[in-house]
Amino acid sequence: MTDKYAVIGNPIEHSKSPLIHQAFAKQTKQDISYEKILAPLDGFVEKISELIKLGYKGVNITVPFKLQAFQLATKLSARAQYAGAVNTLSFNGVDIVGDNTDGAGLVRDIEDNLHIPIAGKRILLIGAGGAAEGVLHPLLACKPALLVITNRTLAKAEAMLSKVKAQTETSVCVCGLDDLHTQQFDIVINATSTGLSDTALPLPSTIFSQDCLAYDMMYGRETPFMCLARSHSAQVVDGLGMLVEQAAEAFYGWRGIRPMTPVVMLMIKEST
Ligand code: ATR
Repeated sequence: MTDKYAVIGNPIEHSKSPLIHQAFAKQTKQDISYEKILAPLDGFVEKISELIKLGYKGVNITVPFKLQAFQLATKLSARAQYAGAVNTLSFNGVDIVGDNTDGAGLVRDIEDNLHIPIAGKRILLIGAGGAAEGVLHPLLACKPALLVITNRTLAKAEAMLSKVKAQTETSVCVCGLDDLHTQQFDIVINATSTGLSDTALPLPSTIFSQDCLAYDMMYGRETPFMCLARSHSAQVVDGLGMLVEQAAEAFYGWRGIRPMTPVVMLMIKEST
């Protein structure tokens, strides 16, 4: 019997997850279906109950339901607990198991696809919303030399810092966007939503070291952050690799098989 999976969000029309998971299934010869499902903004929990009754095996969760999925899960992986958000649910008998594969996806893209080891690097993480929170712990687990969190609202960056400070040997600190002009980084990650509105972040161009990787977690457009980094000779990468790698990590959790991602990344790139 075909095992059923889906991605749930609102809006959901733009989601590439069905394309990605269907490609993984074909490649690994898994008999699964994967569709996109729109849940009403006030009807996420009801939608999940409905899918469980219909025999679905798991779902990916996207905006704006990652926090509700975290609250709904009866069991949580360690990385979901650290992130405070869930992007993957598995329905295992009575349990609703929550996981977060976003950070693992980012790390895998940087280290395995781009061949840039994170250990020993100076990282600037821009943003203190859900996206930044999801990747902070996995980045720290790679033992960078330094990780600086910056955000428009500094109090949110400080709250994020206070959650991880005691648990890491890495030097982690918070810095205002205005105070970055004396520092240089090897990896600069934009985890803000500014790309959505084409808003430029007030970043000094001096933050990009020679051979710097500038990574925008957003996929599908050239953001002002990417333009700025490109004009200062950074290696500029968008969130396509992270998108495919977080999906591969979810697929592995559900099916126990790790798909090959480069061929799927290429397919998605060509389809847009
Ligand atoms: P997500 O789940 O995508 O992380 P979010 O939790 O709403 O969404 O967080 C959005 C992030 O983008 C925050 O870091 C936000 O900064 P604030 O904490 O100051 O709100 C950042 N952001 C959004 N619009 C921004 C803008 N115009 N300038 C600077 N930062 C912005």
